[in-house]
Amino acid sequence: SSSTKYADPSRYLSDHPNNNVPPHIAALVGKGLHTRPNHPIGIIRAKIQEYFSSLPHQDFTIYDAEDPIVTTTQCFDDLRIPPDHPGRSPSDTYYITDTTLLRTHTSAHQSEHLRSGADAFLCAGDVYRRDEIDASHYPAFHQLEGVRLFPVEEMKGAEGKEGQEWLESEECKVIAEDLKATLEGLMDHLFGETEKRWNEDYFPFTSPSYELEIKYQGEWLEVLGCGVVHEEVLQTSDRADRRGWAFGLGLERLAMILFEIPDIRLFWTEDQRFHSQFASGEIVKFESYSKYPPVYKDIAFWIPEGFVENDFFELARGIAGDIVEKMELIDEFTNPKKGKTSKCYRITYRSMDRSLTNEEIDALQMQVREKVAEDLGVEVR
Ligand code: PHE
Repeated sequence: SSSTKYADPSRYLSDHPNNNVPPHIAALVGKGLHTRPNHPIGIIRAKIQEYFSSLPHQDFTIYDAEDPIVTTTQCFDDLRIPPDHPGRSPSDTYYITDTTLLRTHTSAHQSEHLRSGADAFLCAGDVYRRDEIDASHYPAFHQLEGVRLFPVEEMKGAEGKEGQEWLESEECKVIAEDLKATLEGLMDHLFGETEKRWNEDYFPFTSPSYELEIKYQGEWLEVLGCGVVHEEVLQTSDRADRRGWAFGLGLERLAMILFEIPDIRLFWTEDQRFHSQFASGEIVKFESYSKYPPVYKDIAFWIPEGFVENDFFELARGIAGDIVEKMELIDEFTNPKKGKTSKCYRITYRSMDRSLTNEEIDALQMQVREKVAEDLGVEVR
């Protein structure tokens, strides 16, 4: 398949000074979880596709094998994401070179698909973000993007309208209403009839923008971001004559809710006790196989100027891998005389498929202590 060529870590590692992709991240690329029919991520993705193919007005073209390496133009500029946006920062994003990176969202493919003439499409893929470490955050996850442009005849009144005038137009309202109705229908298809609520949101590439929340087991959960495609995005893609909507959602988040999968690391396991529970087209409750006990270790250090928390999180995963379940800041204080700040983090170590020994965790924690001093210039206390 076309995605196997992406499973070559050397594509992501380079000695370019801007490269910040560690080997344990490069090793995750190209696994194609979203294209596996019996994997929870693939099952949800198929269920979403099934809904869109049932819609009457348009055929949605399916894309699922784009290169996860994109340019800063695709990922940011074409989407009106400003140069100083925090999402562009190397503390949040994996760069291969100064102008190429591991996509941080599937929206990175909007402009190329629009430019190629697609009027309605779905685009699924793995995306990468440097972030905190806990049961619902993993540096690689999957998104599904949807875009629908409306037929030109239906948008006659919108011609040449921009900014406020466009936002107040009847056509913009028609698109926003269609977007909301379409996504509410998607949620009913996935969850059965659920309570939903819309909040205003902000994305540089859509206006107006919204987030959708659903009520699940008594709690409001944010499930997607969306909006009316910004006219400048359409202009950039040579589609200034058209108008439409876009949305993006996280597949892990939906899969964790629907299958009751408690920890995001499970999607990456090779354990048959996980995989044997899932089959194409079936949404079943995941039966946790025995949960092994956690081991907690604290580490405190004085931070240097410019300390980046994500560097520390990633360093621990680089040493101990997925047995790092969670990293949390538990204490922080500044010594006014020294003008220095100390941070104390608790690392939760737990394997999902075996018990850990004290000796092995002590050895890993020792390596973390040494490497954090060496690489991040902190002073371990
Ligand atoms: N790309 C956005 C995100 O990752 C989601 C989104 C997609 C929002 C399309 C609007 C339109 O958060």
